[in-house]
Amino acid sequence: MELPIRPRRLRKSPAVREMVRECAVLPADLVQPLFVIEAEGAPEPILSMPGQSRLPIPLLVEECRLLFALGIRGVALFPKLDSALKDPQGCEALNPDTLVLRAVRAVKAAVPGLVLFADIALDPYTSHGHDGVLTPDGADVDNDGTVEILCKMAVLHAEAGVDFVAPSDMMDGRVGAIRAALDTAGYAETGIMAYSAKFASAYYGPFRDAVGSAKAAGTSLLGKDTYQLDPANVRAAQRELLLDEAEGADMLMVKPAGAYLDIIRMARESSTLPVTAYQVSGEYAQIVAAAKLGWLDRNRVRDESLLAIRRAGADLIFSYFAGEIARERAQSGGLSLDPSLRPKLRKPSAL
Ligand code: PBG
Repeated sequence: MELPIRPRRLRKSPAVREMVRECAVLPADLVQPLFVIEAEGAPEPILSMPGQSRLPIPLLVEECRLLFALGIRGVALFPKLDSALKDPQGCEALNPDTLVLRAVRAVKAAVPGLVLFADIALDPYTSHGHDGVLTPDGADVDNDGTVEILCKMAVLHAEAGVDFVAPSDMMDGRVGAIRAALDTAGYAETGIMAYSAKFASAYYGPFRDAVGSAKAAGTSLLGKDTYQLDPANVRAAQRELLLDEAEGADMLMVKPAGAYLDIIRMARESSTLPVTAYQVSGEYAQIVAAAKLGWLDRNRVRDESLLAIRRAGADLIFSYFAGEIARERAQSGGLSLDPSLRPKLRKPSAL
């Protein structure tokens, strides 16, 4: 064929492919979500998320130290509470010595450079599993009453030392209210990572097992449709993203990630703030489960899924794969080479 334009020239060797590669996922782009429990001794494996465990505080601190040494720059902490501590108001969320706050203090003291994100929502604390308190008739989540509690919760987290509070509740007006509460309390330096475009997704199922909110609610499919976004809606997501930016958010989030790449792209084009995407528990579980059955190549699908989220426009990705990826990169000398080149890699010489 007389064919002057042959795009395959740019794909002919691993080196050329590496040169023209448009994006990459680095350990610093990844945030590891971690679950903490009140216990001593061993980690408690999470059955619906093989490879992930709930950690007692001392092990959590060790894990954070290791992750930071491997190049992970941030972790997101989630408490799993004893059901005896849950009630309809989520009162334990305002206990100044509650589990997650003790975890924050311990991690900050041991690994001060690690960026700490902590969820601001009531679902780990409420007996009904909702992210807020209910209206008197119990039919819905009370917006303004919930925001008032979230503001107090955010101040407690700032006091304990988190770098970013992360409201994940989807109440109206919470970002502005939390910003004002933090500033009034003297925490102007504490940032807000807003879960702005958080969809009412069935992909959160395994997480609800992990924090026990499914058990509290009697189902992992608890409907949060009056506050989380309708999965059919792009414009509604844009409205939430722009509102959170206007209310003072420092970073925006789209969640879930893999099934919402168009929303990530829209967020990237709508705002100059950093865009975070959360590859949620169900996305992790899907890949791990299919690989277990021998139907997918686990690590290649993992890497491809994260690359897609980056390519769509995410600056930062919350992913349960973060730690293992950082570990692999560290073992390969920090380089992510085409697999065909790996055997030729010499051992890194001592510096
Ligand atoms: C709750 C919260 C959820 C997740 C993070 N924060 C679940 C929910 O909204 O029910 C999900 C994370 C995941 O699935 O990995 N505020």
